[in-house]
Amino acid sequence: MKFEKIRNYCEYHDIWYLQIPLEVPTAVIKEAQDIYDNGFFVEHRYGDTADTGGWKSAALHGWAKKDEDLMMGWHHTMNPSGYGISEEDVQWGWTEIQQFAPEMKRWLNNFPHKQYRRCRFMLLEPDGHITAHNDQNNTGRRNIKSAINLAITQPEGCYLRRSDTKEELPFKPCTGYWFDNGVEHEAYNGSKENRFHFIVHGGDNQERGHLMLYALKELVGNDVEKDLEKFGNENSRN
Ligand SMILES: [Fe+2]
Repeated sequence: MKFEKIRNYCEYHDIWYLQIPLEVPTAVIKEAQDIYDNGFFVEHRYGDTADTGGWKSAALHGWAKKDEDLMMGWHHTMNPSGYGISEEDVQWGWTEIQQFAPEMKRWLNNFPHKQYRRCRFMLLEPDGHITAHNDQNNTGRRNIKSAINLAITQPEGCYLRRSDTKEELPFKPCTGYWFDNGVEHEAYNGSKENRFHFIVHGGDNQERGHLMLYALKELVGNDVEKDLEKFGNENSRN
């Protein structure tokens, strides 16, 4: 399967982001603002993996316990395990904020996917910060497809960067990237405006693998397809 080869190739070559060759509609800027104005963003914390301030979240696609209203799933910012709830006890789907975000929902429906998990609007407030951390529990595991991060807005003075080299992910408004959150990274909003992003988890399928290969070819050239054959299906670290 292409995914594993691409993952291993990116790990070997220390490629930690890959631009998605699709635009995000500018209409989602207003949708993020509407969701903010309607008070849906709730505090999002990383527990002991990172110190955060002004980091908030509202799930467009998420989960609720089976006996609870899925529409209320927007307030779950973490996975079920983060609340001590088992996967068997939850249902996944669109939440109440779908009524404020038809374009974002349409984009997700059109983007290659099988079954999404958390798909969340993320807010980093002015002077908000996320201290250096990785999202792979310090295992050193690398995975270029661990998350998709879409920039809805990207005010001057905002960064998401890797902590070792301080290299910034070159976000522009309404662009998206596959982002390897196993790399130690940190973020800051040094502007006076809210920074709205969107994070997608889950949904891998073969079509997405093809899109990812296209993106990798854009970055390193068509010959990469031959090179990929050297990177077997097994994750080299697992
Ligand atoms: Fe992170």
